[in-house]
Amino acid sequence: MRLATSLPLVAIALNLAVLAPQAQLVALPVVAEKPPMGWNSWNYFAERVDDKGVRAAADQLVATGMKDAGYVYVNIDDTWEGERDASGVLHTNSKFPDMKALADYVHSKGLKIGIYSGPGPKTCGGYAASLGHEEQDAKMYAEWGIDYLKYDLCSFIPAVMQKQAPDDKAAQMRLMIAAYDKMGKALKATGRPIVFSLCQYGWDAVWEWAPALGGNLWRTTGDINPHWDRIYAILEQQEGLEAYAGPGHWNDPDMLEVGNGKLSLAENRAHFSMWAMLAAPLLAGNDLTNMKPEIKAILTNRDVIAIDQDALGKQGARIYSDGEVEVWTRQLAGGALAVAVLNAGDNRYSTHPFRLSLAKLGLHGAQHGKDLWTGKNVELTNDMPLEIAGHDVFLVRIAAPK
Ligand code: GLA
Repeated sequence: MRLATSLPLVAIALNLAVLAPQAQLVALPVVAEKPPMGWNSWNYFAERVDDKGVRAAADQLVATGMKDAGYVYVNIDDTWEGERDASGVLHTNSKFPDMKALADYVHSKGLKIGIYSGPGPKTCGGYAASLGHEEQDAKMYAEWGIDYLKYDLCSFIPAVMQKQAPDDKAAQMRLMIAAYDKMGKALKATGRPIVFSLCQYGWDAVWEWAPALGGNLWRTTGDINPHWDRIYAILEQQEGLEAYAGPGHWNDPDMLEVGNGKLSLAENRAHFSMWAMLAAPLLAGNDLTNMKPEIKAILTNRDVIAIDQDALGKQGARIYSDGEVEVWTRQLAGGALAVAVLNAGDNRYSTHPFRLSLAKLGLHGAQHGKDLWTGKNVELTNDMPLEIAGHDVFLVRIAAPK
C-alpha cells in the first residue's frame, strides 16, 4: 500500500528533475498581453513627483474605482534619481526616501509599480541614467519589486550616438538599438516580469525592431501635451502602424492628457476614445486627488476601456475621411466592430451634416450598435447624417456587424 502510493510520487519527482533545467529556459510570464493601464506622474506633476504623491496616486486609483476599471500600474517618471555611490549603486534622491517601501505600499494595494531611466549618462531631466550600469540597475529594480520600466533615449543621442558616429546616421541607430537590446536582456536576466517601455520618439521605425528585443510598448512620436492640436497631430502619425501592434507589443502614442490643461470635455472624450481605438496603453496623467467627476467618468468608461483592452489585440485604423471628419474602425473579439467618427474640425453644423457611409466600411444595411458615450442603443443606416460637435467623437460598438 505504502509502496503503491509512493510510486507515482517518485515518478513525479523524477519528471520534475528532468524538466527542471528546461523549465528555467521557459520564457517569463507574458506581460502586457493587453495594452498596459495605469497612471504616470509626468504629464501633470513632472519634477514635482515624490513619494507622498505616488502613494496618493495609488490610494486614488483604488478610491476612484480606476483600479477596478483596469488601471494597475503606478509609474514614477523622471526625477526620482539621486547619485551613484563608489560601487555604482544608484541612490534615490530626497523625494524618495525608500523605494522598496514605496513599492511594497503600491503592491499592498493590489497595484504594480513602474520606474524610469534611460540608456544615456543622464535622463531627459538631467538626472543619473543607466549608461554602463544596465545590469546593476535592472537588478536593483527587481530587488525593489519594480514591474515596469520606461527607458528614455535623451542624452544617449549626444553622449554616445553623435559622439561615436558623428556623420553616420545608420550607425547611430545601430548604437541606439544595441542600447535598448542591452537593457532588454538585463531586465530578462533578473527573472522578474518587467514591462519594457521604449521611449525614443519612434526613431528608425521602432515598431519594426522593438518586439524582438523584448519591448512591450514603444513611443511612436515626440511628447504629447494637453492641447488638442498636439493630440490630433499624434493621432495622425499613427496611421499605418496598426500592423505592428498585438498582444505583448503595442504602439504607444504617449500617455493620456485626459483631465489636464484646458482640454474641453469633448476633447477629453475624443482623446480617450481614439487612444482606445489605437489599442494604446492607457496611462492616466492627471492629478487623481483633484479629479473632477466628469473626468473620472471618462477615464472609467468601461465600454470604452473594453475597446482598448479587447482580447483580439488588433489596433484600429482610419478607413476614410471626408473633410475634417474621420472614420476609424477597430475589429474586436467575437466578430464585433468599433466605429469612431471624429470631427477634427472646429465647426460643422446641421446645415451641412457629415453623412456616415456604411458602404465604405464594408457594412450592408442597418446596423445595431451601442453609443458608448450615451450608453444608448443606436441604429446606423447608410449615409445617415451625424451631427458631431467640433473635436468630439461618436463611438459605437456593433456587436454583430453585417
Ligand atoms: C521625455 C519623455 C517624457 C518624459 C520626460 C521626462 O521628454 O518623452 O515622456 O518622460 O522625458 O524628463
